[in-house]
Amino acid sequence: MTHQVGIILNGVTGRMGTNQHLERSLCAIIKNGGIPLESGDRIMPKLILTGRNEDKLRELAEKHGQATIGKPFAYTTDLQGALDGKHGEHEIFFDASSTLHRGRFIEMAVTAGKSIYCEKPTAVDSSEALRLASLVDNAGLKNGVVQDKLWLPGFLKVRSLRDNGFFGKILSVRGEFGYWVFTGMDGQPPAQRPSWNYRCEDGGGIMIDMFCHWHYLINELFGPIQRLVAYGNTDIARRNDENGHPFECTADDSAYAIFVLHDGTVCQFNSSWCVRVRRDDLLCLEINGTNGSAVAGLRDVRIQPAAQTPKPVWNPDVEQPIHFFEGWEEMQGDSSYDNAFKVQWEEFLKHVVIGSPWKYSLQEGAMGVQLAELGMQSWKESRWVEVPGL
Ligand SMILES: NC(=O)c1ccc[n+]([C@@H]2O[C@H](COP(=O)([O-])OP(=O)(O)OC[C@H]3O[C@@H](n4cnc5c(N)ncnc54)[C@H](O)[C@@H]3O)[C@@H](O)[C@H]2O)c1
Repeated sequence: MTHQVGIILNGVTGRMGTNQHLERSLCAIIKNGGIPLESGDRIMPKLILTGRNEDKLRELAEKHGQATIGKPFAYTTDLQGALDGKHGEHEIFFDASSTLHRGRFIEMAVTAGKSIYCEKPTAVDSSEALRLASLVDNAGLKNGVVQDKLWLPGFLKVRSLRDNGFFGKILSVRGEFGYWVFTGMDGQPPAQRPSWNYRCEDGGGIMIDMFCHWHYLINELFGPIQRLVAYGNTDIARRNDENGHPFECTADDSAYAIFVLHDGTVCQFNSSWCVRVRRDDLLCLEINGTNGSAVAGLRDVRIQPAAQTPKPVWNPDVEQPIHFFEGWEEMQGDSSYDNAFKVQWEEFLKHVVIGSPWKYSLQEGAMGVQLAELGMQSWKESRWVEVPGL
């Protein structure tokens, strides 16, 4: 039996909506023939694309619909109508619009009684994130927030190293995230991220963007965070927007934080859109343990067990005799890793259709927003802050 599940995809014309959610997740699931269940049944998504710009929606619906189901996907600028069932039955509402619009759209979906899934962050402050989480919980609606990094091959490998006891006691974690986002000024190419990311008043800022990710990643892989100290900065003061017009950057574009876990593990994360990459990947985690260390990128992981650890001696007067990069071996993994967003979509759809376990709720998402808010508090007040329970 096939369980057809209607999904309203809102904010689908954006970068995340189009690339990760429509093309690489839902179209890929449909092209695979749906999601197979243990019972032998399958879940098959049925999509309707919603947004403000009819031309963009039509173009997306035609391009991806033709390639996926042999005809255009349904689309409409009438979101309320879609929620009211005027364009067919849809039980899930998904939102990938820019952050400041999330609350309004979630409220509409709650009133319509939909299961709700959305991008992170759910809000830019924790009181709003918690309000939205309570709203969906009180209405008894299934709900979820994107926590894609958990399913990246590199971090799945770290999880298995941890579970196999490879690290011994984990002592410290260093996260290095970022790349150069072009300004579009002084002969530079146009930016590869939306301009609202650099304006506080539009929900931008690297701390609110990335600390949500660091929250679930640290929590799931290494344990709960007890306290943090953070600093942010606006390294680049002016950029050009999508139309080539200059604007003042009001949001942080670099952020530095030390998170101390309840068990004393120290996790230090640098995040920046103003750095040039000389490392294995755009996000690298270096995990040092008593029995071994690992450096994980988005896909690949290199490990150095205690027995292969070189013994350097400080002597800048001679050429370094040790080639440090050679002392690491690449970890072989399962070759069947799938797109992280797609895997989480499959989990959410199974949760909605057959009630399988799910923990990535709006409540969990609110804890990520809280961490970002505490980061900003630490930065503004120049002090350590404790992470209270929500
Ligand atoms: N999970 C991740 O790794 C990840 C990465 C990047 C962004 N995000 C999040 O995804 C969301 C979208 O980010 P993006 O980079 O795709 O941004 P984007 O600017 O490319 O897309 C934003 C979308 O929101 C829509 N939108 C904007 N204003 C609107 C309004 N007033 N009414 C209705 N729709 C409106 C736009 O039309 C567009 O479809 C953000 O919340 C962002 O934080 C998540």
